[in-house]
Amino acid sequence: MAYNVNSAMAIHTPKTLAFDIYGTLIDTHGVVNRLESLIGEIAGEFSVSWRNKQLEYSFRRGLMGCYQDFSVCTREALLYCCEQYKLNLSDDDIRSLLDLYRVLPAFADVEPALSIFNERGLACHAFSNGSRQAVQQLLEHAGLARLITSVVSVDDLQTFKPAPAVYQYFLQKAGSRPEHTWLVSSNPFDVIGATHAGWQTAWVYRHRGNVFDPWGMEPTITVSDLRELAAILVEHW
Ligand code: LAC
Repeated sequence: MAYNVNSAMAIHTPKTLAFDIYGTLIDTHGVVNRLESLIGEIAGEFSVSWRNKQLEYSFRRGLMGCYQDFSVCTREALLYCCEQYKLNLSDDDIRSLLDLYRVLPAFADVEPALSIFNERGLACHAFSNGSRQAVQQLLEHAGLARLITSVVSVDDLQTFKPAPAVYQYFLQKAGSRPEHTWLVSSNPFDVIGATHAGWQTAWVYRHRGNVFDPWGMEPTITVSDLRELAAILVEHW
């Protein structure tokens, strides 16, 4: 099997699963088709810039103590990218893109994998920089809400991942200990944030060529998608 297990010891313990939402369960590039109809062949590149700027804005707002709902970071990042790419999108186009962002699709592997975790009796929490309402809407639209134990949002603390307080808050809400808690995320910054907080981590590298930050804080497990994580679960846990 292709997965890399960094710490086999960690696999045989009770566990709580905390799933990142944007980029892990939900595909942030699900707007590309709509973008293509508006801006043509640069849609893919634009979508990546939009996502990167959105994350940058959340990090900066967290550092500055200048919190706004993640949807504000999303909107302001979209406006920035329109400026950067010299695009003159109408207010209606901007609105339709932001509306679409509220109903982004899930990746195909998510539903079957969450079903397996549920069958095994594992608590599956959503843990996101998005507001509870936004995350709930995404999960319901994608037909995943019934598989999720609870939604834990940074909005309660008014700061963003990877602030250590946010990982601490999750433990309090889920009633879990760091060594028994697994962050499942495609976002290296999030995986490193959870590792720093003493959690176990599964990095989901959804795209070949994705690079993990060379900080010497490796994930416990590296998988290409959630089906692979579920297969490890069936085999080892
Ligand atoms: C989240 C973003 C950071 O859902 O992916 O928390």
